[in-house]
Amino acid sequence: MDNRPLGIFDSGIGGLTVVRALHELMPHERLIYLGDTARVPYGNKSADTIIRYSREISNFLLSKDVKGIVVACNTASAYALDTLKAELQVPVFGVIEPGVSAALAATRNNRVGIIGTIGTIKSEAYQSALKKQQPELEIIAHATPLLVPLIEEDWLSHSATRAILEEYLWQFRLMKIDTLVLACTHYPLLKPTLTNLLGHNIELVDSAESCARFVRDALAKTNQLSDANDESSIEVYLTDMPVHFKKVGERFLRKKLHKVDLVSVDGLSSTQRR
Ligand code: DGL
Repeated sequence: MDNRPLGIFDSGIGGLTVVRALHELMPHERLIYLGDTARVPYGNKSADTIIRYSREISNFLLSKDVKGIVVACNTASAYALDTLKAELQVPVFGVIEPGVSAALAATRNNRVGIIGTIGTIKSEAYQSALKKQQPELEIIAHATPLLVPLIEEDWLSHSATRAILEEYLWQFRLMKIDTLVLACTHYPLLKPTLTNLLGHNIELVDSAESCARFVRDALAKTNQLSDANDESSIEVYLTDMPVHFKKVGERFLRKKLHKVDLVSVDGLSSTQRR
């Protein structure tokens, strides 16, 4: 047993979808989340910047004595995961490997689609991990940058969102994919609209849920799950308090956000590790 908390980070509030999935699957874990709301979005930033931010945030989480770190952000997983894994003394989990395994398990016709931020798609992290495991796979990947603001606006089934999705997805339909990887923290909220648009024959891979299952299995294997009697808690830190963060955050988390603290970006890198 390891009753220390688990650290999770994202570029902003969207990663609370991963916190939700982790909390649902492991209700006894203490979760500490850092949303880098002062520097969001990561989706269009360079690899060097994303690696620097991810290092600073990991340093902050380690100062809270976390037993492991979950990189909830797809863009940060694409660019910074290998660096963090190599540099940190605790296990580091990303969303890509679990999403890839879930997509491979789901596809029957070997045609898989991926949607994500510009950075995630450009990194080809999903594409190469899928190809490595199944070279004959046909993959279609598109950046869908207009979706994050629409989701934050709660326009989940708005006609404008549906029109944009139609435009983004027609080629996926044409290629007859049977599996679509939602490679962004925000996209799980679009699942009902996507199912409505694409039909039930296209399996949607929710990277938040597959990541939570992966983390639970890994912690179980190394005997690092918390004691079943341990009180769960969700502590949230943000690097800025955006105007609607509480309303938006609660939609992502599907729970009330009780405790949200501000930590300055400068404070992230200067925190003393435990
Ligand atoms: N969290 C980011 C991701 O999953 C989306 C928002 C952003 O661009 O920072 O890629």
